[in-house]
Amino acid sequence: MTGSEPGADLVDDLRLLARDVAVEATDLAVRLRAEGLDVDSKSTATDLVTNADRACEDLIIARLSALRPDDGTLGEEGGARSGTSGVVWVIDPIDGTTNFVYDHPGWGCSIAACIDGVAVAGAVAAPTIGAVFSAGAGRGATLGDTPLRLQPPPVLAEALVATGFGYSGEQRAAQASILGHLLPRVRDIRRVGAAAVDLCSVASGRVDAYYESGLAPWDLAAGALIAAEAGARVGALDGGPAVASGLVVASHPLLFDELCRLLADAGA
Ligand code: IPD
Repeated sequence: MTGSEPGADLVDDLRLLARDVAVEATDLAVRLRAEGLDVDSKSTATDLVTNADRACEDLIIARLSALRPDDGTLGEEGGARSGTSGVVWVIDPIDGTTNFVYDHPGWGCSIAACIDGVAVAGAVAAPTIGAVFSAGAGRGATLGDTPLRLQPPPVLAEALVATGFGYSGEQRAAQASILGHLLPRVRDIRRVGAAAVDLCSVASGRVDAYYESGLAPWDLAAGALIAAEAGARVGALDGGPAVASGLVVASHPLLFDELCRLLADAGA
């Protein structure tokens, strides 16, 4: 982190706020889904957005602005506002919108508080799997009230690896080629459909590793912090800091380099 480090009290306050607002937003999403969704598409015909994505983002920004009017926001559905406090909230109101539309489990709401572009607190609420994850920088990660700490990983050949795919055909063809190289060399692959939940699955040991290219900041911010605070290494293929638009890798530190080598061999 550059600039001044936030104090523990501020980190804890931001984390609780992220958690409470994420839970409230998923309650709204569940209610709106039951009333019937208006479904639209964005970048491609496969990239869905619903009235609930927009309503949840509006709710999140209204709640955050009421309590912290000087903060900025960056939301998937366009909720960008600059602030003066140095804190910017990076928001995915519904990560895994395709799951949400199909009533397929695994979607979630992801909210992170960032300072100087670095997440310092965040939460991911995923009601269909009954999970609320949160973390604060230097303060650990939890699933509900249970602290998360990664266990030693299996060898790569026995690792369960999560990944995801973008929305353009070209991007998917490249991702499929990498996947084809990986699949015979790991235990198995999971494609849950929500990057924030995948990163939390690394944090909670539900998968051993996760990689994906071409994410957006709101897919990454809260989940990456939660994984890192649980003890995972989250980074780029060259071991540098994770950049959403590049290839993001998350795993136990003992698995990270070998997974990166395998991904590089695969052409990532
Ligand atoms: C998507 C999901 C998906 C991932 C895509 C994301 P969205 O987010 O996280 O798992 O593979 O890269 O764009 O569009 O459902 O908010």
